[in-house]
Amino acid sequence: MNNRVTVLDKEFEISITAKQISDIINGLAARINNDLKNKDVVFLGILNGSFIFAADLFRKINFPSKITFLKLASYDGLSSSGKIKRLIGLNESIKDKTLVIIEDIIDSGNTLEHIIMQLRGYEPKEIKIATLVFKPMAYKKDFKIDYIGMEIPNDFIVGYGLDYDGYGRNLENIYTLVDDVNNKDLKNFIIFGSPGAGKGTQASKLAEKYNLIHISTGDILRQEISKNTKLGKIAKNIIDKGEFISDEIIIDIIADFLDKNKKNGFVFDGFPRTLSQAKIFDKMLKEKNLKIEAVIDLNIDEETVKKRMIRRGKIYGRIDDLDENTIKHRLDIYNEITKPIINYYKKNKNIITINASKKIDEVFNQIIKKIN
Ligand code: IMP
Ligand code: MG
Repeated sequence: MNNRVTVLDKEFEISITAKQISDIINGLAARINNDLKNKDVVFLGILNGSFIFAADLFRKINFPSKITFLKLASYDGLSSSGKIKRLIGLNESIKDKTLVIIEDIIDSGNTLEHIIMQLRGYEPKEIKIATLVFKPMAYKKDFKIDYIGMEIPNDFIVGYGLDYDGYGRNLENIYTLVDDVNNKDLKNFIIFGSPGAGKGTQASKLAEKYNLIHISTGDILRQEISKNTKLGKIAKNIIDKGEFISDEIIIDIIADFLDKNKKNGFVFDGFPRTLSQAKIFDKMLKEKNLKIEAVIDLNIDEETVKKRMIRRGKIYGRIDDLDENTIKHRLDIYNEITKPIINYYKKNKNIITINASKKIDEVFNQIIKKIN
């Protein structure tokens, strides 16, 4: 068996074998047969990608049911945005039926949303969703996916119906794109400084200028909180008190993020926050063959910080920025727990010290000058 294949200009490495796919399908079919055997079911294969999977899955369905194939097509002429899509190929009456959408892959869930919204117009009894592979990290919708063959990381795959620019569908196995980014070539920066020093602002400007990925653990956590995830609930309690999330949670978030996002490099904003995080982080960098170009240390006096934070709290509704006691507590924690990292970094990193009490653009210009 060939472990590597080339499709057009890219190299791919085997990740799910034909045998594994066949086992996954048997498992899915068993569940569907059990759940839906007494229902009036129409399977809907979504073209193009799912034609092989739909055929193999349908052969394992053991109760009387129908299958038809649909395609999501861009409106021609009517819309130039390409965002409006319509469902074509539906000749079957699906009113009051149990529909099972068969997808090869669900990524962001945009395609799925289009399909479900349009199918609802036909008044089916219910809509179930089955997919061979699912990328939980990329999924942005709330539709529950009833039958998932396998969860995979946020990497690009081909084979078994899935294509890269139209090619690769005929491969028996599923293959994952081999990363051609060498970690050694990435440019990574840490933005360091007290709360209110302007880390987020400067980090995002730096990321934009050099096409880097801005990682803010605070933002990631706030997103989790607004989505009310398990992590979000734990985090909310701790953040509202102005305290730190445990090293383990933060390190997991960072490791996960580094593996799933590749660009020219990263700007770490608000991380590491404790000496122990900094040490674990150094180990992680070594393992992943990454290095830090520079630690950008934003220096600012506490009075300026307090004024800034209260203003920011009002503008963005960040409760942790509004309350004077919480601000004081955060500054104390910073001085006690975070600031000592700089002494540790003096030994093994290139530190750039910046006067951060100036205007945004002036601070940014200092940074650029010193980096170059
Ligand atoms: P979504 O709308 O983001 O869920 O993406 C669904 C569509 O994007 C799929 O039907 C595929 O056509 C394509 N797609 C997403 N990820 C992959 C992949 O890893 N390989 C091949 N096609 C993919
Ligand atoms: Mg598809």
